[in-house]
Order: sequence, then structure tokens, then C-alpha cells
Amino acid sequence: MNTQLREIKTIIEPTHVVEGAGVRLRRSLGGEKLNYLDPFLLFDHFGSPHAEDYQAGFPMHPHRGIETVTYMLNGEVQHRDTLGNAGSIGAGDVQWMTAGGGILHEEMPQVRPEGNGGFQLWVNLPAKLKMVQPRYQDIPSRKIPEVTTKDGARIRVIAGNVGGTEGAVTGIAANPTYLDVFIPPGGSFTHSVPQGHTAFAYVFEGKAGFVENENGEHRWVTQPALVVWEDGDVVRIETRDKGVRLLLISAKPLGEPIARYGPFVMNTKDEIAQALLDLKQGTFIWQDQAVS
Ligand code: FE2
Repeated sequence: MNTQLREIKTIIEPTHVVEGAGVRLRRSLGGEKLNYLDPFLLFDHFGSPHAEDYQAGFPMHPHRGIETVTYMLNGEVQHRDTLGNAGSIGAGDVQWMTAGGGILHEEMPQVRPEGNGGFQLWVNLPAKLKMVQPRYQDIPSRKIPEVTTKDGARIRVIAGNVGGTEGAVTGIAANPTYLDVFIPPGGSFTHSVPQGHTAFAYVFEGKAGFVENENGEHRWVTQPALVVWEDGDVVRIETRDKGVRLLLISAKPLGEPIARYGPFVMNTKDEIAQALLDLKQGTFIWQDQAVS
């Protein structure tokens, strides 16, 4: 079978932004450079050893029409929401939250000697599921399977499938792949991504060569950078003298209209206006709608 290696479409250097009550982030999706990479709406990388960069956190705020995925590298974030969930996510843990029809939550990084670091991804929901009942999945680090390939790559399978190993998070509308990939020096990683699916990598440690054709020609990418792939069947990444750690994220695009306003992402402007009205009238959260 003929497989087509995916070439690089674009490389995005993250932009520094301040969000929440004053958290410094590096944003590579959902900002000025690339607003939407269907079905992904936002990708933020937070990470600092300095408490003043993160301790203000994200006090109680709403979401509607999306899923938010938080993956922690170090430190701790305490959270609570209007579903009654409360707890903490630490190094290696994942929180996959389906905001659906409406949720309010708080995400507060804790001041710790090791600082605070991780990622937040927003995945769009299809129109028919935007107002679904909110759901929350908390996946501790020990439940995330790890695969080592014969080429030496070590992969934490958060969602998707690597060589028959199924990811820890399932039942997500967009059926995404979310891999944390470490390739040691002199290694490589090859992964199939179905034709038509959106795919990107976020390089956050070291550097890697993104192989673009069968002759082995590649482009070097150094952290921090978000690499968007063109269409094709397979992606291939190699390392030489340095190792690399990156996230590989992919999913089938929705191809639906987008209306976004802050933490709300719907299909029409009217639905955004309704979200703002619901918030004002105290009918925002899903439980309230169910009984009205
Ligand atoms: Fe949030």
C-alpha cells in the first residue's frame, strides 16, 4: 500500500498572553496567528517556576459548546465545578472536561517548589452535542498507558491508539488522538494519521527533524513550536544528537460554522447571545436548563 508522508504546512511560534486572573501562557492556537484548526480551538502551554506567573489562576468562569483537556507536566492545579466535582490534577494527570450545555469551573494552580507546567487544549463539539450534559473525566497518571516502540520512542497514550494500545480517554465526540511522545537521541517515531484528519505536533523539549518525503529530507524544529501537518497518511519524526518531547494531536475536522466569544464556542451569533443572556439570568448551567 502506498502511504503518503505528511509535509509541514506551517510552524507557529507561541505568543505570550496573560489569561484568567493573571496567568502567563504561551498560546499557539486560538490566538492571533491561527484562530482555529478544526476541530481544535485553542492550545495553551503554561509553565513557570515563578509563583507570580501562575498563582492568580482561573477563578470561577463559564464554558459552553466545547471540551477542555488539561494535561499536567509538573506542579498541581486544584479545581471545582458546578457538577460538584472538586479535586486536584498533578504531574502526568489529565482532566478531560465536556462543558456541553454549560458549566462553571475554577482552575487554581498551587504554589509549589517545582513551579507549574502543562497544557490546555480546547476541542470543539459538533452542533448536535453542543448542549449535551456536561461530563468530567479525571485520569490519574498511573492509568495512562505507556508504549515503547522498537525505534526507541516512548509514548504516553492519553487518547487514540498506538500499536494496539488504546488510550486512557475514550468516548470523546471528536475521537481525537493525544500522545505525549519522547524520542531519545538517534531515535525516530512513525505514526499513522488517517487521510483528512487535522494533525499537529507541539514540540516542548529539545528538537526534532520532521521528515517530509521518502528521501528522508526533513525540517528541524526546536521547542517551543507548534507544527501543523498537511494531509497524508503518516507522520515521521527523527532525532539526532538531542532528544525531543512533543505532543501529537489529531482528529477529524467537523466542518461546521464557528461563532466564538471567549469561553463559549457555538455555531451562530444568536447562540452566543443566548449564552450571555443565560449567564446574566442565572440559567446558564446545564442542570438549570433541564428543569426549566
Ligand atoms: Fe476553564
